[in-house]
Amino acid sequence: MKAVRVLPPPGPLVGELGVPGDKSIAHRALMLGALADGTTLVRGFPGGADVRATLDCIRRLGAAAEWTGDTVRVEGRGLALGGRDVALDCANSGTTMRLGAGLVAGAGGRVVLDGDASLRRRPMERIAVPLRQMGARVTTTDGRAPVTVEGGLLVGIDYASPVASAQVKSAVLLAGLRAEGTTRVREPVRSRDHTERMLGFLGVRVEQGADGVAVVGGQRLRGAEIPCPGDPSSATFLVVAALLVDGSELVLRDVGTNPTRTGALDVLARMGAEVERARARTVAGEPRADLVVRTTPLRATTIAPEEVPAAIDELPILAVAAAFADGETRITGAGELRVKESDRIAALEQLRPLGVPLEATADGVVVQGRPDRALRAGRIATHGDHRVAMAFAVAALRAPDGLVIEDPGCVDVSFPGFFDRLAALGARVEAA
Ligand code: S3P
Repeated sequence: MKAVRVLPPPGPLVGELGVPGDKSIAHRALMLGALADGTTLVRGFPGGADVRATLDCIRRLGAAAEWTGDTVRVEGRGLALGGRDVALDCANSGTTMRLGAGLVAGAGGRVVLDGDASLRRRPMERIAVPLRQMGARVTTTDGRAPVTVEGGLLVGIDYASPVASAQVKSAVLLAGLRAEGTTRVREPVRSRDHTERMLGFLGVRVEQGADGVAVVGGQRLRGAEIPCPGDPSSATFLVVAALLVDGSELVLRDVGTNPTRTGALDVLARMGAEVERARARTVAGEPRADLVVRTTPLRATTIAPEEVPAAIDELPILAVAAAFADGETRITGAGELRVKESDRIAALEQLRPLGVPLEATADGVVVQGRPDRALRAGRIATHGDHRVAMAFAVAALRAPDGLVIEDPGCVDVSFPGFFDRLAALGARVEAA
């Protein structure tokens, strides 16, 4: 897809809309469905490139999976590889690769997991280390992909992860399902808990407490219907869009509100945003609600390291919001941003030539915000990173001459149709 220019809308953003299903939940539903006995129906399947990669991987591993409309029907077959060699293409998706490595660790085959240039730059020893401790043979390529996992008999471990990462935690728990004894994972700050919740929903006993999360190996999973709520990470782009365009009011239907994912909403509330939650309910172990957002003035804040895991994917769009808040916003303890789909701290430095005083630190950014700010025109390199593309597309709503977003097609990773939806709400999106 060619570059697009995004320009501010002539009036407020008003409307009621849904966002694609939660990518984190969809990855897990496909993988656990492949392990489970019987049928799993993944409803509200987001259909983006990341979850399509996981769908392709579970098929290659032997699961039958049929995708029709917004539903994927998975017939679980236990994922036993019987010594087979399997090559998996995880494309741009860290979740596919890291959870996939844990999924196959006890499957008795030899699996090579690879991905695109961005994924090949990301750290993989963080999952290789605990999986080796469990007895799997894992090799990385200088700490990165391609990763080879030769599964065998696994034993449970008690693993204190040095990073707060749901991908690491989940990889170890998935391997633990097939290990002998108990597998426990502790993390410095609690990361998103979708794996734990979904395991419980599918009939696995999961112990959770101050000592981390633990599963006893050998338990069976029961296939079930898993409706994905709207992805709160995708929703946050539209929430911030409504906050930045005067007089806006958006209703975002059926968005996931798991507290391990709503850190950005908490930060925005502290900045003065009003985001109401209506029709709150829990479905299949995951809370969800309609989000109602109206434009409000924002004030600066400091995001502390312990707040980072619950807002990790939203930090780029929070930095954009901070550019229009009154005062200095600091994001700290977010070194993980440097090893996402791109170095997101470096990507945010592109706010500077647009007129935003921003300082990049080793583990975050410091942004000088101004409520009346209008951005200068500019051209944004996305480095193929969906969240960078969407964060700057929202920033463009406050750039009178617009911003050119290169490689806008990368938003398909998590939010297919993002630019169409922005245009439907009134923003001007044109070929550049
Ligand atoms: C994810 C976990 C997070 C997040 C990613 C999805 C998951 O990564 O950034 O987009 O689905 O488990 P880390 O585990 O590396 O923090």
